[in-house]
Amino acid sequence: PLVNTKEMLQKAYEGGYAVGAFNVNDMEIVQGITEACSELKAPVILQVSAGARKYANHTYLVKLVEAAVKENPDVPMALHLDHGPSFELCKACIDGGFTSVMFDGSSKPYGENVEEARRVVEYAHKYNVTVEAELGKLAGIEDDVQVGDDDAQFTDPGEVQDFVTRTGVDSLAIAIGTSHGAYKFKPGQQPKLRLDILQEVASRLPGFPIVLHGASSVLPEFVEMVNQYGGKMPDAIGIPEEMLREAAKMAVCKINVDSDIRLAMTGVIRKYMFEHPDHFDPRQYLGAARTAVKDMVAHKINVVLGCAGKA
Ligand code: G3H
Ligand code: 13P
Ligand code: ZN
Ligand code: NA
Repeated sequence: PLVNTKEMLQKAYEGGYAVGAFNVNDMEIVQGITEACSELKAPVILQVSAGARKYANHTYLVKLVEAAVKENPDVPMALHLDHGPSFELCKACIDGGFTSVMFDGSSKPYGENVEEARRVVEYAHKYNVTVEAELGKLAGIEDDVQVGDDDAQFTDPGEVQDFVTRTGVDSLAIAIGTSHGAYKFKPGQQPKLRLDILQEVASRLPGFPIVLHGASSVLPEFVEMVNQYGGKMPDAIGIPEEMLREAAKMAVCKINVDSDIRLAMTGVIRKYMFEHPDHFDPRQYLGAARTAVKDMVAHKINVVLGCAGKA
C-alpha cells in the first residue's frame, strides 16, 4: 500500500535497521527498485526531487508509483518529496498525492528554517502526510545551493531538540560527513562519518528517526564499468558500506540513495552499447539498466539497510 513514513521509520528505529529512500525519475527506476523490494519483502520510500518533477512531470511520477503499488500490494511504499525548497512546493506535492515531504531549509538562517518547517508540518499533518526537515549543511551540491567542502557544517546536537519540538517534524536529516553526488571525498582522503555526532543527536532525541542524505556508496563496480566503457569519472568515491550499516543500526532510519542508481544505469548502458553496437531498441539497454537497478537495490537492502523481511 501507499503509506506515509511514520510507521515504517518507527519500526526501523526499534528494529535497528534503515529504510532505503531511492530517487525516482522514470519507469525503469521505479520498476527496478520496487521489484527488488517485493522479492525481499522490504518497505521502501520512493522520492522525487524538484528536478525529477521538472523532468518527468508530477502526474507521470505519481501514476508510476501508483502502478508500482498496484503491482506490489504487499510492499509498504511512501511517495516522498526530496529537498522541497519552499512551503509552496511541499503543498503542491501534499495536494497532489504525496504521502511525505521534506522541507529543506538547511541553507536558511535557523529561525527561518524553524518557521517554514513548522508551517509545512501544520499543513501536512492535516492530510496525514509526514514531514522531514534538515539541520546542518552537507558538503557538495545540495540542489541549487553549492556548499563548498570548507563550509561543510555538521549538525549542532545542541539545536536538535529545540528544532524538533518547535516544528513538530516527523524525522530529521543531519550532516555528519556525507555529501551529495559521486565525489564525496578527495582522492587519498580517508572516508569518515561522524558517528559520534549521530550518537549525541540520538541521545537528545530518544526514539526519533534520523535521516542520512548523500549516502550512496558510489559502488566501485559501477565506477569501473563506466571508466572501462568510455566514461570518465576518475576519483569517484562514496560512503563505505560498513559505515552506513553502523549508522543504520543506530538512530538512522532513512538512507537516501540517488547516485548509486545513476551509476548503475550509466555503467550498464555504456557496457551494453559497447558490446552490442548494432542494437538500437531502447528496451534492450533500458531493460539491462532496470535489472542493474534491481540488483543494486537488492544488494543495498541485504548489506547496508537490513530491511529485508520487514514489509
Ligand atoms: O539530493 C539530490 C538528489 O540526488 C536529487 O538530484 O535534484 O538532480 O534530481 P536532482
Ligand atoms: P547520493 O548523491 O549520495 O545518492 O544522495 C542522494 C540524496 O541525498 C537524495 O536526497
Ligand atoms: Zn539529499
Ligand atoms: Na536505525
